[in-house]
Amino acid sequence: MPRMFALVPAAGTGSRMGESPPKQYLSLAGRPLLQHALGGLLASPRIEKAFVVLADGDREWSRYDWSIYGSRVEPLRCGGATRAQSVRNGLAMAPGIGEQDWVLVHDAARPCLPAEALRRLIETLGNDPVGGLLALRVADTLKRGDAEDRVIETVPRAGIWQAQTPQMFRRGRLLQALQLAGAEVTDEAAAVEALGLKPRLVPGDPRNVKITFPEDLAVAEMILASMESTV
Ligand code: C5P
Repeated sequence: MPRMFALVPAAGTGSRMGESPPKQYLSLAGRPLLQHALGGLLASPRIEKAFVVLADGDREWSRYDWSIYGSRVEPLRCGGATRAQSVRNGLAMAPGIGEQDWVLVHDAARPCLPAEALRRLIETLGNDPVGGLLALRVADTLKRGDAEDRVIETVPRAGIWQAQTPQMFRRGRLLQALQLAGAEVTDEAAAVEALGLKPRLVPGDPRNVKITFPEDLAVAEMILASMESTV
C-alpha cells in the first residue's frame, strides 16, 4: 500500500502582497498562514508527514514553535526561484518517500482547507493511475479583457475549472514531470499534463481560498471562524 506525504512550498517572497514578512508567515487569527496550511493537511491521519520547503535565507521559521506537530513536520531549506522549482527541489531532497508513494502538494497560502475536501481528494484518487487535484467548476461568466480593461470576448466556461491545492501525484512521476517542465509551470498538474497524462479533477471547496491580496486575509478569517464554529 503506497504511503502518503505532504509537501508545502513556502519559499515565496510574497511580492504581490507588498508586505514583509513573506506571505506564508502573515498572521491569521494569531498564527502564521503556514501553520494553518499544515494543520489542515495533518488533520488527516493518512498523511504521515509534511515536508516544508523554505527559502535558503528564511529567518522566520525558527521564530515559531513547531513542536506541536512532533516529527510530522520537517523543514527543507532548498527553495527555488519559482514555485515549480521549490516543489522539484523539495521532492528531490525529502528523505524516505518511495517512488510510488503519494505526495500531496499544498500551498502555504491556503489556510482554510476543509477536512472533507481533503478526504474526498484522498478517497477519489487512492487507486487512480495518474493522480489529480482539488478544483472548482467555474460558475461565473468569463470575459477576456484588453490592456485598457475593455471586454474583447466572452470565453465559453463549459468544462472550465479553477485549480486549487492539494494536488496529489506519485513521487516518481511528479519529480520526472517537474524535471521536464519549465520552471514557470504554476501547478503540479500542468507539469503532469505535459507528459500527456490527464490528472483527475476532484470537486474542491470555495472555502479553500488562496491568499494573494491583503483583503483576502479578512475573508479567510471569516471562513476560519465559521469552520471552527461548525466543528
Ligand atoms: O505566490 P504564489 O501565491 O503563487 O505562491 C504559491 C506558493 O508557492 C506559496 O506557498 C509560496 O510560498 C510558494 N513558492 C515557493 N517558491 C517560490 C515561489 C512561491 O515555494 N519561489
